[in-house]
Amino acid sequence: MKSSFSFPLILQTLFAVGTFAVTKIIPTDPGNGPTIAEFYSGGTPFFDGPKIDIVNDTSFDWWYFDAISSDGTYQLTVSFFTALATTLGFATGFGTTNFVVFTAMYPNGTEYQQFGFAGPVTISDGLFGIKGNWSSTGFTFQGTTDLSYYKIVIDSPALGIEGSMIFNSVAPAHYPEDPYIPGKNLSEHLSPVIGWANAIPDSIAKIDFNLAGVGELKFTGSGYHDKNWGLQSLPQAVKSWYWGHGHIGPYSLVWFDTVNYDGTENVSGYLARDGRIIGVGSGLTARPTGANSTYPPTSTTGNPGGFHIVYNTKDGVFVADVAGQVAWAPPLPLGGYTRWAGQITGGFVGQRTYTGSSVWEWVRFTL
Ligand SMILES: *[C@@H]1O[C@H](CO)[C@@H](O)[C@H](O)[C@H]1NC(C)=O
Ligand SMILES: *[C@@H]1O[C@H](CO)[C@@H](O)[C@H](O)[C@H]1NC(C)=O
Ligand SMILES: *[C@@H]1O[C@H](CO)[C@@H](O)[C@H](O)[C@H]1NC(C)=O
Ligand SMILES: *[C@@H]1O[C@H](CO)[C@@H](O)[C@H](O)[C@H]1NC(C)=O
Ligand SMILES: *[C@@H]1O[C@H](CO)[C@@H](O)[C@H](O)[C@H]1NC(C)=O
Ligand SMILES: *[C@@H]1O[C@H](CO)[C@@H](O)[C@H](O)[C@H]1NC(C)=O
Repeated sequence: MKSSFSFPLILQTLFAVGTFAVTKIIPTDPGNGPTIAEFYSGGTPFFDGPKIDIVNDTSFDWWYFDAISSDGTYQLTVSFFTALATTLGFATGFGTTNFVVFTAMYPNGTEYQQFGFAGPVTISDGLFGIKGNWSSTGFTFQGTTDLSYYKIVIDSPALGIEGSMIFNSVAPAHYPEDPYIPGKNLSEHLSPVIGWANAIPDSIAKIDFNLAGVGELKFTGSGYHDKNWGLQSLPQAVKSWYWGHGHIGPYSLVWFDTVNYDGTENVSGYLARDGRIIGVGSGLTARPTGANSTYPPTSTTGNPGGFHIVYNTKDGVFVADVAGQVAWAPPLPLGGYTRWAGQITGGFVGQRTYTGSSVWEWVRFTL
């Protein structure tokens, strides 16, 4: 599977000439003055590194990792942030721009949630892959340059979290509109002001943690990793977004359907079968179903019952439906955030239907 999308080391070397590794240290205080972001891949040989120059009062950059057990009942998300919490829509700051969030869901509904507030962050990205270290939290991640393998290691007695999460990719990386082709200058714009790079759309995930007071969090399933970034605060950039991913039989599906601040909609779909990309980019819609399925959502719209995803690809129309339980719903004063985990059912219209597991979310700033 790996051979279908990893590229030869010699090419990686050529793209990285003169930039053996770039190490960036991100301080805990936001910088003053304007910053810039990368929105085209041509300027750098690295897919997953920091995308903003400095963290200021409106810019953000994050690395997101999640996993769902094959039966959809265990879920884990680990997120690494460099942003003021208020830039992301939280009510108050955390005293540092560098923080991590760990949220786990057990089959019986038990949730384990921790925030970790970090000192300086060190990220190095280069010939031998990426490494991120959110100092003083015990949270680190690393990945290979060909984006085939990631490992998150957490050693945090203070937060009661010890263990690791390992991803072996089964679906090639992509940008919002294109498969990732190293060295090619591709757009990273999900919307006019938000960037997206999806290093691991789907993977075989192995999760092995010990959580204080709860016990083991141990499962295998599907793992996902991406990053988003932007120059404007999230509440000033987004009205509502629906995002999610699923592992459905031989298929890996990712959807992003966002309503921008000005009311325009931007979408990006991704579908692969057995590790080969079928489609990337436009032609997708994700819509709420069941209770509270008003679209576009308003300030009074509650959590929908599920979502229906339609993706027009060159091979036909792929449809999927998700339903499950809420895995995390932190309060956001200007709107809300809900993450669900559960089952996904889908396939190409007129062909076999499969069932799998999925993680999906709704971000809104509608108040
Ligand atoms: C932060 O950077 C953004 C993008 O360059 C800019 O619009 C904003 O004004 C900056 N904030 C400050 C305080 O300079
Ligand atoms: C990549 O494409 C963008 C948009 O066309 C352009 O602005 C940028 O200069 C290009 N970058 C490189 C390194 O070619
Ligand atoms: C992360 O950084 C801290 C502080 O520099 C260091 O003590 C720790 O060993 C690092 N962790 C790893 C896994 O490199
Ligand atoms: C739910 O599962 C967790 C993890 O196994 C366990 O610690 C907890 O006691 C369970 N809660 C209930 C109400 O059964
Ligand atoms: C986002 O929507 C705008 C307006 O419809 C469009 O010009 C732009 O190409 C879209 N971008 C993507 C990545 O779909
Ligand atoms: C629909 O929204 C209402 C009001 O927020 C809420 O009470 C209800 O639980 C929601 N329905 C579902 C399926 O979550």
